[in-house]
Amino acid sequence: MKEKTILITGSTRGIGYSTAKIAAKQGWSIILQGRNEERLLEIKEELSAYGATVYHLTYDVTDLDAIKKSFMWVKKNIGHLDALVNNAGILDDALLGMVSKKQLSQTFAVNTEAVIYHMQYASRLMMKQKHGSIINVSSIIGRFGNTGQTVYGASKAAVIGATFSAAKELAPYNIRVNAVAPGFIETNMTEQLPEDKFKQRMSEIKMGRIGKPEEVANVILFLASDLSSYVTGQVIGVDGGMVI
Ligand code: NAI
Repeated sequence: MKEKTILITGSTRGIGYSTAKIAAKQGWSIILQGRNEERLLEIKEELSAYGATVYHLTYDVTDLDAIKKSFMWVKKNIGHLDALVNNAGILDDALLGMVSKKQLSQTFAVNTEAVIYHMQYASRLMMKQKHGSIINVSSIIGRFGNTGQTVYGASKAAVIGATFSAAKELAPYNIRVNAVAPGFIETNMTEQLPEDKFKQRMSEIKMGRIGKPEEVANVILFLASDLSSYVTGQVIGVDGGMVI
């Protein structure tokens, strides 16, 4: 039987890295994606120790030509793709009055457009196989908003809209498309926050603690696996009860 293969964007750290690590332990064959070749090779060596087959693709997710070439590489060298995790993302806060064109373009290019292009290429492979699972990493901010996060929130809300439409379009091909909406997770992204904002976000979590990247990764891998074979077009919050 062919090894099941999962491609995870932005897998050099945080939620993406955790997803790759747990997937390797679960026996998936992994395609790591990132911009830092050295780090990708380091992770490749680490995950190979679990007995996993690990590939890596080095590109910026905003580089459309690189996305196209990477999927051509996957088709030629692996021949199939069972799951895609659109995880790469950036956070660039600004109050509405300070929003710039550059910030808007860059945030949408990484958080939204790259997700749609990756779904486009992955679905071409998956349609031929007549199966596949796509998981898009949105955010609680894309569902409920936050002061200073108009741009980020819009880019992540767009991911939810894209997830719903793609789920409808691809269901007849047995391709499932779901999103996760993490709340407040301990990664580089949240480390950047000023102390007052960090404390304020923490006070909103009903479970009283920040989430671990592995706790998001586990939900992503549930959606990637056949354990969720009848789940599509859903947005699953992973937020310790931040929003109930
Ligand atoms: P992180 O900053 O540790 O990881 C983001 C990853 O995306 C990194 O590997 C980074 O190199 C990669 N990336 C960024 N721009 C890229 C580009 N142009 N091309 C290729 N890779 C790129 O942050 P974290 O928390 O692991 O974020 C993962 C996802 O989870 C993001 O989409 C983020 O928006 C989302 N998220 C995170 C939350 C949190 O509290 N940490 C909450 C809600 C959503």
